[in-house]
Amino acid sequence: MNYFFEQKPSKECQLNLKHIDRHFMKNCWSEESWDHFNFDHHAVGWVEIENEMIGFALFDHLANDTYAHLLKIVVKLPWQRKGVGEHILMESLKRLKLLGVQTCGLEVAIDNLRAISLYQKMGYKTLRALKGFYSDGTDACAMSKELRF
Ligand SMILES: CC(C)(COP(=O)(O)OP(=O)(O)OC[C@H]1O[C@@H](n2cnc3c(N)ncnc32)[C@H](O)[C@@H]1OP(=O)(O)O)[C@@H](O)C(=O)NCCC(=O)NCCS
Repeated sequence: MNYFFEQKPSKECQLNLKHIDRHFMKNCWSEESWDHFNFDHHAVGWVEIENEMIGFALFDHLANDTYAHLLKIVVKLPWQRKGVGEHILMESLKRLKLLGVQTCGLEVAIDNLRAISLYQKMGYKTLRALKGFYSDGTDACAMSKELRF
């Protein structure tokens, strides 16, 4: 399993993100959202097995900013529950820390127990509830982690 990290991800990387999101994320972004997404202010950590991307974490991060925001983390179904998500998040947070990031925030749907469990395992703390945060009315919670490791 090889780990990679890119700021301003390449076109090839962008296509892989879009593909994995479409097939393995319940509330995936629309084609239009991806097409209008500005990758210039974003960083991606991902893992490959035999040159195939099997999961990624996408962060909103401006150069020199001490704050980063996890937008989504997705692992292809056959590779879930094998430590891949944890590996991607751990390595990505290390890379962001090297870039000067001190705090990483996120929002997660309150019914996404797998993701919440992953974030708690990684040391994320719940900040507050966000009523009706998603377009379908689902509630979310805001979580945050200080990068001190
Ligand atoms: C959430 C997700 C990224 C986790 O990735 P993963 O590679 O399957 O997770 P890992 O195997 O690294 O598991 C790490 C921890 O996450 C939690 N976790 C992962 N899958 C879980 C499950 N099915 N049930 C409960 N907890 C789970 C556990 O805390 C686990 O630690 P443990 O193995 O010691 O119990 C993956 O399930 C996924 O892609 N889901 C669909 C997309 C999504 O909802 N993303 C999050 C919102 S953007």
